[in-house]
Amino acid sequence: MYRNEFHVPGPGPYALTHSVGCLPKRSAAAIEERYLQPWQDQGGDAWPMWLAAIDDFRESLAALLGGDAAHYCPQSNLSSGLAKLLPALPKRIGRTILVAAEDCFPSMAFVLQRAREIGYDTRLIPRAQDPSSMNTWSDALTSEVAAVLVTHAHSNTGIVAPVAGITALARERGIVSMLDVAQSAGILPFSVAQSGADVVFGSCVKWLCGGPGAGFMWVRPSLLSELTPTDVGWFSHDNPFEFDVHSFKYAPDARRFWGGTPSVVPYVVATVAIRLLTQIGIETLRAHNQELMRVFRAELPASWRDRAVLDGIGGTLCLPLGNAQEQLLRSFRAHSVRADFRGSIVRLSFHIYNTSAEAATVARCWSGI
Ligand SMILES: Cc1ncc(COP(=O)(O)O)c(C=O)c1O
Repeated sequence: MYRNEFHVPGPGPYALTHSVGCLPKRSAAAIEERYLQPWQDQGGDAWPMWLAAIDDFRESLAALLGGDAAHYCPQSNLSSGLAKLLPALPKRIGRTILVAAEDCFPSMAFVLQRAREIGYDTRLIPRAQDPSSMNTWSDALTSEVAAVLVTHAHSNTGIVAPVAGITALARERGIVSMLDVAQSAGILPFSVAQSGADVVFGSCVKWLCGGPGAGFMWVRPSLLSELTPTDVGWFSHDNPFEFDVHSFKYAPDARRFWGGTPSVVPYVVATVAIRLLTQIGIETLRAHNQELMRVFRAELPASWRDRAVLDGIGGTLCLPLGNAQEQLLRSFRAHSVRADFRGSIVRLSFHIYNTSAEAATVARCWSGI
């Protein structure tokens, strides 16, 4: 019943939300009303309206993911937030290692690895070690570790990390915990506070259906005063409109990570999407997603069913194909299924705009394989 709220590309099933979530229909009117019209009518005097739109974005995140709007800072994407955070962390003698799973999103690992320039080495937990096991993290979080990046839901396997356990362990061992929610925000119920993370990085591209450009970071309030970003701009200043070149004071809230003149349109679109999903309710979204994964699994040929493991995963079902990829690709084309592959794994995501009939159609692509 919510499908009508979105532009869902056809003609076949759209199972690509792990890549890009579908556009909410209300977005075009919101861009017109909140971005174009103020610009057209007010020129440079549109800024108060544009900034109010970005404030609404921060408020909408707080309504969905918890915490206070002041502790969310807009970012263009997750990597930019991480790149701003690392040099802002207080340097601690003997703490020079950054930890992440080898299966984290490469862009995040690139940023961690570049932090070599500022004195950090990166320890990637090998793929062979299960990121859903606390033992894996316990072994990796040694006394030289400064910070750990946890991927909530892994994009290549769907595996969900035991976030609260890892962040609690990190805190106990004096390690800053950073959480990547790119593949979980909008589909897995969680709150920034309950995650236990010190910093949360997200974007709205995937399950939040808010398009590219509306990234964000949330910072635990008690940590803020210790963080001194070097990548700043006038919107990181306590009073951006002071215009005194000799005076810079960090904004007391997460805005200290903001930077120069912000973009506006991505936040207008993302706010529409976040509000819509919040209105539908995260429990409803997740229940629908799980139901469609069950339908998909039940409709798979029996010989494939065991490979479709539904326990311990986020919104995306990642199915190993062995050497059946070419055949499946042909079948997907024949049924106009939109999904994608990572190596020999097929990734399938069912969101609120997908139907049970579509999940069954996708599964039928396996017949005869
Ligand atoms: C787990 C995860 N993290 C991060 C990203 C994207 O990072 P960025 O916003 O820096 O491009 C993705 C995109 O696919 C992802 O799946």
